[in-house]
Amino acid sequence: MSVQEENLVYSDAFYWKERWKNNSIEFHCKTNHKMLVKHLDKLTLNRQNLRFFFPLCGKSLDMAWLASLGHQVVGVEFVKSAIEEFFDENKMQFKLIELDKFKLYSSLDEKLKIYHGDFFDFSNSYEESFDCVWDRGGLVALPADQRQKYAEVIHRLLKKEFRYFLDAFEYDTSLYPGPPHLATLEELEKNFGCKCKIKLIDTNPSYRLFSESLKDKPPVELLYLLTNH
Ligand SMILES: C[S@@+](CC[C@H](N)C(=O)[O-])C[C@H]1O[C@@H](n2cnc3c(N)ncnc32)[C@H](O)[C@@H]1O
Repeated sequence: MSVQEENLVYSDAFYWKERWKNNSIEFHCKTNHKMLVKHLDKLTLNRQNLRFFFPLCGKSLDMAWLASLGHQVVGVEFVKSAIEEFFDENKMQFKLIELDKFKLYSSLDEKLKIYHGDFFDFSNSYEESFDCVWDRGGLVALPADQRQKYAEVIHRLLKKEFRYFLDAFEYDTSLYPGPPHLATLEELEKNFGCKCKIKLIDTNPSYRLFSESLKDKPPVELLYLLTNH
């Protein structure tokens, strides 16, 4: 599939199912995310037993890590095999509950839950509100026209006081169109700014090149912190 064709369909469930089926999951980190590990205290403020939300969670190892630190973790993912791989690879048993729009995969102690279904159907009728969000490969996986709605879904899930890490990238879009897509500060202000303060916390050379066309001007990874006003 050419990049152009890929861009036409990249937000569809079918596109993501195919990627998981073909093991074309270059986005998946085989270690905990370095920026999350480095800056976790800025998210938790050293508090215990927080409620963490992982939008578009894939099989992120960070879910298992945060749960092992004693936090409650909730992810949403619409590819079933990703969820089952998560429990299998982390050697965790799960129980399965059928809900209306979701199937809920839950660790036996219920500290870690992954909802199988469409993020845009998720709401606080399923879960109490969250203290923290780790958004890595969530917002930036979506096309621009879905992001306002994405921000609204997330806002409704947050406690009044929240801390939200957003992982983003900067690169020359004339050389590579994405995904992952840019999330500029200007666009973040537009979608999240009325309810959040947004601050750039860290930048690093990206661990992934995304495309050979970026090899002379490699992407930069950015970590933003969004908090209530
Ligand atoms: C770029 S991956 C990032 C996965 C994970 N956050 C990580 O860091 O490895 C995006 C994930 O979102 C899932 N996804 C995309 N759109 C979704 C939607 N509307 N609802 C639920 N999951 C979705 C895809 O199946 C894929 O696993």
